[in-house]
Amino acid sequence: GIGRIAANLGTPAYLVGGCVRDFLQNHPMPDIDLAIEGDVRAVAEACSAELSGAQCTYHPYFGTAILRYPDGFQLDLARCRIEHYPAPAALPEVQPAAIQADLIRRDFTINAMAISLDPEKFGEFLDPYGGRTDLQRRLLRVLHPHSFLDDPTRILRGLRFAVRFQLQLEASTRGLLEEALTQNIFARLSGARLWRELKYLLELTDLPAALEELGAWQLWPLLRPTPLEVEPLLAKIRRGQQEIHWFHRHFPDEKLCDAAVLLTILWRDIPWAAEKRLHYWPVTDGRYILNDLHRLSEIPAALAKASHPSAVAQLWESLSLPGILALLAEYPETDTITKSGRYYLLKQRGLTSPLNGKDLQAMGLAPGPQLGKVLRHLHDARLDGAIKDKETARQWLIR
Ligand code: CTP
Repeated sequence: GIGRIAANLGTPAYLVGGCVRDFLQNHPMPDIDLAIEGDVRAVAEACSAELSGAQCTYHPYFGTAILRYPDGFQLDLARCRIEHYPAPAALPEVQPAAIQADLIRRDFTINAMAISLDPEKFGEFLDPYGGRTDLQRRLLRVLHPHSFLDDPTRILRGLRFAVRFQLQLEASTRGLLEEALTQNIFARLSGARLWRELKYLLELTDLPAALEELGAWQLWPLLRPTPLEVEPLLAKIRRGQQEIHWFHRHFPDEKLCDAAVLLTILWRDIPWAAEKRLHYWPVTDGRYILNDLHRLSEIPAALAKASHPSAVAQLWESLSLPGILALLAEYPETDTITKSGRYYLLKQRGLTSPLNGKDLQAMGLAPGPQLGKVLRHLHDARLDGAIKDKETARQWLIR
């Protein structure tokens, strides 16, 4: 349908990028990207009107549109374009172009293939840079010598593709990588862009393989001031992944930044007073992780001394969620610390005081810090089993 609609508007449409690569490998295609030779907005709006009520969002600045179908399916449309990078690692300036030129601006040959959706050439396969052969030979190859300098995030994207599809760096691409690294290219990237790529990397299912590759690509300095011995680290990472799975299984609707758990594990032994490399972490999360790293070592001994369930809960509460899971990952699943942390998450974290602020005011307490303290005491009493419901709470307060 889309190919016909686009052709009627005189703007041929192509399947392009990762979905073509995934299709050739019989992998599922979570994202579908379309390249349009012409006015993206007209095509997107015509599709939205003609095809089963897809919602259309158009971004004039980027010349892109998103079509969201009622069943959750999403199509990304982009105008075919060439890019010019005014400075290394800057965001590109773009100009409309034909599909051939659009393909060469991309990162790797395996991502520079297209399939025509035009009814007259339906299914025609465009592979001007040999992406299919590289995929068969398991080679990761950039399209031009300036690729990594234009956009250093491509180095981390490449690492991800290498791990996901078991690719080797092609020899001249390896040379270009080494050259880019000697120019300290990552320092020019904004923190948010670098962090986004690192997060994708840390969340790869085969993170152990990704860490091996990180060493082989000489990229450890991106994550840590000193490299880690990968072997002993892997056991911790696997335990971290177990705890992350455990959490998602029990709290399927709750958000957790998996990468923050893994990064806390990776950063656990760094002397933080001397360390300033949080520049690439969005500020709030960075602060949480630093707080956790300062507190983590004290928690196990404090837990051993805590005499009441409320004291135990307060200790866990002093960590962020990723910090808790990172600590559990340091102990076997059967350890008392792991059990205590999981119990806190399952049973204690959600408990609230049986009486709320309004109830207390109705009992005659004035609003203010005092009321906050009473609420905290009620909360602790609930954790310690001294009260269960509003009635027992009232009696407890009167006593
Ligand atoms: N692309 C690029 N350079 C980048 C980012 C993206 O050239 N820094 C191009 C590639 O052709 C890529 C396409 O844009 O295939 C779509 O990008 P994206 O959706 O981020 O990645 P995919 O290749 O689709 O891979 P994934 O399966 O991880 O989504």
